[in-house]
Amino acid sequence: MNYRHSYHAGNHADVFKHAILLRMLQLMQRKETPLCYLDSHAGTALYDLAGEQANKTGEYSEGIGRLWQHADLPALLADYRAAIARHNPDGQLRLYPGSPQLMADALREQDRMILSELHPEDADVLKAHFAGQDAIAVHQRDGYELGKAFLPVTEKRALWLLDPPFERGDDLERCLQAIDTGLQRMRQTVVALWYPIKDTRALKGFYQQVAARDWPKALRVELNVRPADTTLGLNGSGLMLVNPPWPLWEELDNLLPWLSEHLAQAPGANWRMDWLVGGP
Ligand SMILES: C[S@@+](CC[C@H](N)C(=O)[O-])C[C@H]1O[C@@H](n2cnc3c(N)ncnc32)[C@H](O)[C@@H]1O
Repeated sequence: MNYRHSYHAGNHADVFKHAILLRMLQLMQRKETPLCYLDSHAGTALYDLAGEQANKTGEYSEGIGRLWQHADLPALLADYRAAIARHNPDGQLRLYPGSPQLMADALREQDRMILSELHPEDADVLKAHFAGQDAIAVHQRDGYELGKAFLPVTEKRALWLLDPPFERGDDLERCLQAIDTGLQRMRQTVVALWYPIKDTRALKGFYQQVAARDWPKALRVELNVRPADTTLGLNGSGLMLVNPPWPLWEELDNLLPWLSEHLAQAPGANWRMDWLVGGP
């Protein structure tokens, strides 16, 4: 396990993932009934953007750094920036919340969350960080087992993020199987699976496998900050969303062109959104 998210926190992929994840939670919270957030690959709670690891790559400067001082953000992004601003009260961008912190901040009294993180150091940090908060359970265990272990949840409403490091060739396959198991146990689970876009050919099989799934609905949302097949590394990223809450896709229709323009790192930045299973 070599991947450390501290090198990448706040980059274009985090902006894309976290802004949409937060909006999904907000839309689910329009109902008063409780919900449970599950995070399979939690990482840690807060990342120091002035730290050695973040500065080594400087990735955040092309991500949250571009939005931080922007005068005229779309509403969805203004909410996301406000969620980060609460950890940077003096206005200087220094701490970036990972998915567990971002979602913990947005939980209501009736909600709860279950986190898993396999890396012992990060799991210990998370445990210490959320100690004493009864609504937040942290497990140092394999995130692919989360659905099998905890679904169905008593609340009958769940939002589940799968966000693996993609260090192994079979991470997508393992995610698909974990989602299959989770949906068999609770079909209405709302799932967000994040995936990197480096080489589109490598993703073709994944798309075909999703399209053949017996899932209720699957929405593919992708944002590339440069043409998808450059050899420069992470050209973009995607979210495969199962059972996304309405009217997310209508909102993303406005948001994605804006993000694509403002996070672009080269001509040819682009986005797409379409249903691979079911439809609106
Ligand atoms: C991309 S990072 C997570 C970022 C976090 N979800 C966020 O958005 O802020 C992936 C994390 O998964 C952890 N990890 C790797 N394999 C895992 C596994 N099988 N189960 C749980 N966590 C795992 C890594 O240690 C790393 O912290």
